Amino acid sequence: MCGIVGFVGRKPCAPVLLEGLSRLEYRGYDSAGIAVIENNNIVVKKTKGELKTLINLLDKGSNFKSEIGIGHTRWATHGKPSNENAHPHKSMNGKFVVVHNGIIENYASLKENLINEGYVFSSETDTEVVAALLEKLYNGNFFETVSKVLDVIEGSYALGIICADFPDEFYAVRKASPLIVGLSDEGNMIASDIPAILPLTNKIYYLNDNEIIKMTADEVEIFDVNGNKLQREVTEIKWDVSAAEKGGYKHFMIKEIMEQPKALKDTIEPRIKDGKINFEDIDFSDEFLKNIDCIHIVACGSAYHVGVVGKYIIEDLARKPVYVEIASEFRYSNPLVTDKSLVIVISQSGETADTLEALKIAKSKGAKILSIVNVVGSSIANISDNVLYTWAGPEISVATTKAYSTQLSLIYLVALYISEKIGTIDSDFVAEKIKEIEKIPGYIEEILKLAPEIEQMAKRYAYLEHAYFIGRNFDYAIALEASLKLKEISYIHSEAYAAGELKHGTISLIEEGTFVVGLACNKDLFKKTMSNVEEVKARGAEVMLITSENMDVSESMVDTVIRIPDCDKLITPSLEVVPMQLLGYYIALARNCNIDKPKNLAKSVTVE
Ligand code: M6R
Repeated sequence: MCGIVGFVGRKPCAPVLLEGLSRLEYRGYDSAGIAVIENNNIVVKKTKGELKTLINLLDKGSNFKSEIGIGHTRWATHGKPSNENAHPHKSMNGKFVVVHNGIIENYASLKENLINEGYVFSSETDTEVVAALLEKLYNGNFFETVSKVLDVIEGSYALGIICADFPDEFYAVRKASPLIVGLSDEGNMIASDIPAILPLTNKIYYLNDNEIIKMTADEVEIFDVNGNKLQREVTEIKWDVSAAEKGGYKHFMIKEIMEQPKALKDTIEPRIKDGKINFEDIDFSDEFLKNIDCIHIVACGSAYHVGVVGKYIIEDLARKPVYVEIASEFRYSNPLVTDKSLVIVISQSGETADTLEALKIAKSKGAKILSIVNVVGSSIANISDNVLYTWAGPEISVATTKAYSTQLSLIYLVALYISEKIGTIDSDFVAEKIKEIEKIPGYIEEILKLAPEIEQMAKRYAYLEHAYFIGRNFDYAIALEASLKLKEISYIHSEAYAAGELKHGTISLIEEGTFVVGLACNKDLFKKTMSNVEEVKARGAEVMLITSENMDVSESMVDTVIRIPDCDKLITPSLEVVPMQLLGYYIALARNCNIDKPKNLAKSVTVE
C-alpha cells in the first residue's frame, strides 16, 4: 500500500524523503513523488514506475535546498498508475500539497460538488479532493483549515500536508492508516513505518486515530480534532537501521527466513518464566476464560493460515468450538459473537483494513479481543483488549515468514494458557509442552541447513505451471501456507487441498508430471495421507514428500523427500513450514522473480 514520508528540519529535505521512500518500497507501489517548498513555491516531482527513476530524475535530491517536504509511493486504488495520478497532489491555486494513504470514501460526491463550483481536477484520485478542499476552506489559519477538511472527509487516511504560506510548518493526520512521528535534533519526520525514520532517529511518537500533528523543525505538537493539545511519551526503537537492511542477503525474504530462530527466541522467551506461561500482557479474568462460549480467529492471508493451525490445536486442547474466519468474510457475515466470545485477531502489520474492521465489529458485539501483532502501536494493537506482540522485528519482504512463525509460536502458548484456565489440561502437561516449544528455535536452525539441498530441488521445479499441496489436519494448514508462499512470489498457479478431499473433484487435474507436494508430518495421520499420495502417484504425479525423520517411506511412492526432525506433535507445524518457505523462495529465485516485491501485492493492505 502507499507509503508516506514528510520532513521539516535544518537540512535539505529531498535526500531524507527519497531515502525514507526507499525504505518503504517493500509496501508495494506503482509510482512515486515528492513535493518541497522552494522560494515560497511548491515544487512537485513525480513519476510512474520505480522509485529509482525518481531518484535519478532528481539526482538523489541534490538540487533542492528546501528543508520542508513530503514524499509518497503510490499503490493505485482510484485511477491507474500514471504520472498524473502519482502523489503528491497540489491544490489548483498551488498553495497546498498533499500525500495520502487510505481511501476517501465520500470523494465522489465531494468531487462532484467541487467541479460544480468550478474546481478543475488533474487526476482521477480520491486524494486530490483533499487538496481542493484545503484550498476551498482556507481562511489563512493552517490548523483550522486542516480541521475543517477533516470534518468533511470520510474514510481512512494518513495525510501529510504542506502549505506555501507556511514554509516552516508541516501538518499530518491519521485515521485508520498507519503514521508515526520521528524526533531528532536535525528536524522532525513523519512516515508510514519505522524503517523510513531510522536513518534519522530511533525516537518516535506513536499516533492514534483522529489526531492532528503540527511539526516545525524544533517542535512536534499533537492535537485532538477539537484542538486540545495532547501529551505523548517518546518511544525508543530498539532495533537499528541494519535490521531493515538486507545485510548481505540477496533478498529480504531469505534474510527473514534465516532470522527465524532469533525471532522465535525473542517471542517465546519473555512468555516463559520458571517453566510456566508468563502472559503479563493478558488480563482476561479467569471467570471469562472458563466461560468462553466459543473462540473466533480472524485474519487475512498467512495470518489466517496461522489461525487454521490454531483451530486444530485449541479445539483439541481446550474442547471449545473455534471458528477460523477470513476477516473480509467475517465482517460481512453477521457473525455469531457474544460477550462470552473470545476473538483472536492475528496480523503482522496491525493495519490490515479487513482485519481491523472485523475486530471493531466483534468488539461492538461485546466480544473480548486478543490480538497477535508484530507492529507496536499499530491500529489493531491500539484497540484490542489485550495484545501479544510477536517480537519478529521489521518484516520487509511482502511474503511473510518470520512473522508467520512467531504468530504460530504464540498460538501454541495461547492454546495452552486458555486450556489450563478452562481446566482441560493440567500444569504438568503445560510444563512438558513448554519444554518442547522452547526447542523450536534449535530445530529450525537444523532445518535451515537444508537450504542448499532445497535450492537444488527447486531448480528441478522452477518451470512448472501448476502445483498442488495436500495434507490432513495441521499438515493441511501448512499446505495452505506453502501454496500461498509459492504462488505469491513465483507466479506459479498453486492450490492446497485437504488430502482426503482431492478425490472429490481436483484429482481430475492430476496427470503425468503434475507437481504434488504431500505434507505428512502428523504421525497420527501419516498412513491416511500416504494413501492419498499413492493415489496421485498412480496418476503420474511428480511427488515431493515432507515428513519426519523416522517415518518409513517407500522410495517408489515419491520422487523427492524432505525430512524434518522428529518432534512433539504440538510444535510440528513450526518445523514443517520452514522447508516450504525455502522451496517457494528458491523456485522464485530460479525463475528470476521480483521476490521481495511481487507484482500487484503490498505488504500492508490498508484498503478493503
Ligand atoms: O499484516 P497482516 O498479517 O494482517 O497481513 C495479512 C496478509 O495480507 C499477509 O499475510 C499476506 O497474505 C502475505 N503476503 C503472505 O505472505
